[in-house]
Amino acid sequence: MKGLILSGGKGTRLRPLTHTAAKQLVPVANKPILFYVIENLARAGVTDLGIIISPETGESVQEAVGDGSRWQVAITYIWQKEPGGLAHAVKTARPFLQDSPFVMYLGDNLISSNISAFLQSFTQDDLDALILLKEVENPRQFGIAELNEQGRLIRLVEKPQDPPSNLALVGVYFFTPAIHPAIDNLSPSWRGELEITDAIQWLLDSGKRVDWRRLEGWWLDTGKKDDLLTANTQVLDEWSRRDIQGEIDAGSQVTGRVAVGPRTRVINSTIRGPVTIGADCVIKDSFIGPFTSIGDHSQVEASVLEHSVLLSHVTLFQVDRLEDSLIGKNARVARHNRHRSLQLLLGDDTVVEF
Ligand code: DAU
Repeated sequence: MKGLILSGGKGTRLRPLTHTAAKQLVPVANKPILFYVIENLARAGVTDLGIIISPETGESVQEAVGDGSRWQVAITYIWQKEPGGLAHAVKTARPFLQDSPFVMYLGDNLISSNISAFLQSFTQDDLDALILLKEVENPRQFGIAELNEQGRLIRLVEKPQDPPSNLALVGVYFFTPAIHPAIDNLSPSWRGELEITDAIQWLLDSGKRVDWRRLEGWWLDTGKKDDLLTANTQVLDEWSRRDIQGEIDAGSQVTGRVAVGPRTRVINSTIRGPVTIGADCVIKDSFIGPFTSIGDHSQVEASVLEHSVLLSHVTLFQVDRLEDSLIGKNARVARHNRHRSLQLLLGDDTVVEF
């Protein structure tokens, strides 16, 4: 069983945040989404992984992930010249996949469940394709499944105007090599992409064994600011642990599940978990409330924040109250006048002074 992770594409939806970086590398609780994907595959025993990368962001993905030895997996990088669609990515990966069955996992999807049980039923039930479905509130933004009265899958449609149900395709799929001839028969969709949804429909129409399972637990397609904040909250809530590696001075109070990275200094501040703070940060005269993640090399001084994500190298100075905010790399927010509450979406290298 091989794993194919899709980490190409353009990542336009999180712009300006992903203008200079891959959306799969955006951290949730200080860890790139892509790392959760690799961990889930490795945990299920899938250790021969291909990662689809694009000319725009491929190098940064390679740099972040490396050779996979950290997770004891083998990684083959596969360049996809154009974001031609999910099925096009599979086509591009053909020399890597050969005739092996594989799990395809979208690099920007974060799910709480372990994929092992799905993998097992895919193999045991001798299926050609197994998909995961989950109810969503905005079915027009996903691939959507239609079931018959017996609950059998009859139709799949990508981003329908008129959705036949609210059951969306989750970004984790299990395939045998039967998917390849299905892809060879596709024409580009209205959005000019080779859609994996259409390839699975082709399998259904040709009488192949395609089945589905409901995904229990949460699923976050981290393409938007609110999803990313929700993802941060969920991950901190369920998976964070207390782990203090930096220095906390005598004037500070750190309660609950708080992670403080190496060489970080907490001075005269209060931190209430769940919170994660990266390495080489300074937190001074501040209050850091629950569900906050602060990236490496950040400086927070005389500020109050909660339920927010700060990427790396962020500076906050005299910010009275920051909530529900997502701040890009190298951004600086400094107060010179009094303001009460702030809500911001700041891209990399932004400066806000007020
Ligand atoms: O998240 C689940 C949804 O993912 C499904 O419900 C849809 O059926 C499926 O088409 C897909 O929809 P999106 O529009 O959200 O896909 P997106 O373009 O965001 O691409 C998903 C991931 O695959 C992302 O990490 C980028 C990568 N990708 C995308 C394309 C189009 C590639 O590596 N190559 C590509 O050509």
